[in-house]
Amino acid sequence: MSISIIGAGNVGMALGRAFTQKGETVVFGVPDPGKYSIAVSALGAQARVTDTLAAVAASDLVILAVPHAAVQAIAQSVPDWQGKILVDATNPLAPGLSGLTVGTHTSGGEELARIARHARVVKAFNTTGAENMAHAAYLGGIPMMPVCGDDADARQRVMALATLIGFDAVDMGPLMAARYLEPFAMTWIHLAFRQGYGRQFAFSVLRRG
Ligand SMILES: NC(=O)c1ccc[n+]([C@@H]2O[C@H](COP(=O)([O-])OP(=O)(O)OC[C@H]3O[C@@H](n4cnc5c(N)ncnc54)[C@H](OP(=O)(O)O)[C@@H]3O)[C@@H](O)[C@H]2O)c1
Repeated sequence: MSISIIGAGNVGMALGRAFTQKGETVVFGVPDPGKYSIAVSALGAQARVTDTLAAVAASDLVILAVPHAAVQAIAQSVPDWQGKILVDATNPLAPGLSGLTVGTHTSGGEELARIARHARVVKAFNTTGAENMAHAAYLGGIPMMPVCGDDADARQRVMALATLIGFDAVDMGPLMAARYLEPFAMTWIHLAFRQGYGRQFAFSVLRRG
């Protein structure tokens, strides 16, 4: 079973690299596959790039790693998602990373679920920087990856993928928790770019007992 990733930019490439290094097969979908053919071939034989609709058709798990402005058109370009797991790694960012354009009584993830017909939407891979998705290992602990979605099986599958690439997968329960995960992404962005942390840090969960 392959994993399709729509978008081959910072997040798409980081996840594609991490998954292929763990032996998974990845199909990237982008508007202009030729633009990414060299970068994708560098990931090895287990990665290929095609157009967006062909990539959606190729896998039963599809990760959206595109600018939020592209989400609606992609969701609606597929007449029926036929129960595919649709992982929303996007954040509805305002220009200049100045905040979010959706929330707090709904979320980008929930809005996606409303328009992606028969998709099992899971919110994940949106709360940390792309560098952490490419290389999750830290000396001081295991970075967390919160995951939410209304379908428990879909959520578990995505948590397993997060675990596979080195994250402490955190079960956030139903998709409405995306209302918390999208602002949480802003916490990472705020620290990285406004508070001088830079991009080489991650959040982790400490547990007593
Ligand atoms: N960067 C991060 O550290 C980070 C972390 C967590 C979440 N996110 C979120 O993840 C998403 C992607 O961020 P990014 O930094 O990876 O963006 P990016 O580097 O700009 O990459 C976006 C990718 O999406 C493709 N794309 C654009 N419109 C498309 C469409 N209609 N159909 C298919 N593919 C399309 C682009 O292709 P072209 O090059 O051909 O335009 C490009 O490959 C954003 O929503 C962002 O908020 C980012």
